Amino acid sequence: MSRLLTFANSTIGLKVIMAVSGLIGIGFVLGHMSGNLLMFKGQGAMHDYAVLLRTSMPLLYAVRAVLLAAVLAHIWSAYTLTMRSRAARPVDYAERRPQVSTLAAKTMKWGGVLLLTFIVFHLLDLTLGATNPNFEHLDPFNNVIYSLKRPLIAVFYLAAMASLGMHLYHGAWASFRTLGLARPSARPLARTVAIAVAVIVAGGFVIIPLATLFGAFSPTR
Ligand code: HEM
Repeated sequence: MSRLLTFANSTIGLKVIMAVSGLIGIGFVLGHMSGNLLMFKGQGAMHDYAVLLRTSMPLLYAVRAVLLAAVLAHIWSAYTLTMRSRAARPVDYAERRPQVSTLAAKTMKWGGVLLLTFIVFHLLDLTLGATNPNFEHLDPFNNVIYSLKRPLIAVFYLAAMASLGMHLYHGAWASFRTLGLARPSARPLARTVAIAVAVIVAGGFVIIPLATLFGAFSPTR
């Protein structure tokens, strides 16, 4: 046990925790994005999907607990690694030419904060209904429409999805590298899998606020 804790607290241990918790998040967003596309099949399909997710409440709460633990572990490892890196180099490099530096890599921290803010709002809005004036339990089709037809909320969703795409592009690649699933390459920016994950997830999510704004869905109540 103490060897496990020592590993978890080491720099590579923290990077492994960040990678594994990030991969759990990627699995979740892939599933959630696919489920959201049922919006195009209508109110009945979305209702049945919400009921299906609640087939076994103990299982649903177990999945929620794993997701929450993954988010907390991801934030804690990111924070601890950032603090250690700062402590190791309190004065910045006079000149720094990173071999691989992308906008996605540079915006990981603030993009992550934006995503966290989005998730808190999103849960209040579509799971608890606290910020959604027409919220009804087990009616995600109408709940999504009433939420996203507010232009400011739709724009917030679009900004969060852009941030999610960038976070996934860098994060998916970084986790594959940490876990040794991707080898060092002479072309470090040729990240086919990371690009595919980012485009499929962010692109799939973005369709819903855009379709709502352009009137593709009509509320049924
Ligand atoms: C256009 C984008 C999105 C739409 C339309 C959407 C829609 C929804 C809806 C309708 C629910 C409630 C489902 C139910 O209670 O049956 C929900 C829950 C949730 N969403 Fe999203 N979502 C979107 C994007 C995201 C993103 C990007 C994330 C995370 C990065 C996310 C994380 C969650 C979580 C954690 C829940 C709670 C799941 C649970 O009840 O255990 N969503 N979403």
